[in-house]
Amino acid sequence: MNIKLFGKTKNDEAVLMFELHNKSGMRVSVMNFGATVVKILVPDKNGNIQDVALGYDYFDNYLNDSVYFGCIVGRYGNRIAKGRFALNGKEYKLATNDGDNHLHGGQEGFNKKLWEVIESESVIIESITFAYNSPDGEEGYPGNLRLEVTYIVTEDNELKIEYRGTTDKPTVLNPTNHTYFNLTGSFDKSILNHKLQMDAGQFTPTDAGSIPTGEIIDVKGTPMDFQKEKTLGEDIEAGFDQLKYASGYDHNFIFNNFDGQTKHRATLTDPGSGRVMDMYTDQPGVQLYTGNFLNGVKNGKGGITYSKHSGICLETQHYPDSPNKENFPTVVLKPDEEYRQTTIYKFSVKQ
Ligand code: BGC
Repeated sequence: MNIKLFGKTKNDEAVLMFELHNKSGMRVSVMNFGATVVKILVPDKNGNIQDVALGYDYFDNYLNDSVYFGCIVGRYGNRIAKGRFALNGKEYKLATNDGDNHLHGGQEGFNKKLWEVIESESVIIESITFAYNSPDGEEGYPGNLRLEVTYIVTEDNELKIEYRGTTDKPTVLNPTNHTYFNLTGSFDKSILNHKLQMDAGQFTPTDAGSIPTGEIIDVKGTPMDFQKEKTLGEDIEAGFDQLKYASGYDHNFIFNNFDGQTKHRATLTDPGSGRVMDMYTDQPGVQLYTGNFLNGVKNGKGGITYSKHSGICLETQHYPDSPNKENFPTVVLKPDEEYRQTTIYKFSVKQ
């Protein structure tokens, strides 16, 4: 594994970049700041190896980032309405950073923390583990929480992400990875020509502020139906209210027959480059986000300014605002339990 200094935090701590390889040429760079995926280099149908993960070339831009490129989001991926929830009869007030709501862990989420590095020896596969200890009361959350995230690059061209979390008081936990993919390998191209298939028969509609209403709606007959492969741009301008609120897709989709096992759940294909990304997860849902608010994000890789729809996130997780929705699967973590998540992004090509 190749390790290099990528930058320094505001407190002058070293930010390290770890490059994980496999024998077929896949390379993934991750750093200990935010446990962030910085690069994913994979071949296209002609064997050209290119980066398919949006981000920045220079570390300082990650310090100031507000779009969550590649990072681990925590404690809670997506929104908690009004930054409030009750647990065991006690009301908790979280930091608000998205209007009146709490988004992606608050003012300074896990994406802006320097994680501990735990290296492990393996000659078979390359992996690195990052750990973060979140103190009781951080951003308003109860309990001292420890989250470990392991990135693994396998010989099958998979980027495998394993999460483990523990707490000393009941709390809520819903971490995810926020990589923006663009399978063309050219970040000046839009992702609207990518095709997506997802094993998701339902979604959670939101209000205009992206807070779930609590309803669970069938995708059938709506622009939200990706059960058969569909081009992302096909219905995005359909005038559907849900898509108008978010200027595109920014919704939680519910996987069919959820049972906590790691299953194949989605396939993203770029017909031009032939790159295919299969997604496997044990989570009940995924936030499909089509990079609707990327327009004007400067200092992108190669000096580019990103545009709306420059990247797509497939954030595997529990549903947004679950702490306030009794009908959504629970996100409560108790001291005698261990949180676990496995998500795999597997790359291949189609001629
Ligand atoms: C959310 C968007 C938000 C974005 C921030 C996504 O996960 O669903 O609403 O704007 O992250 O970059």
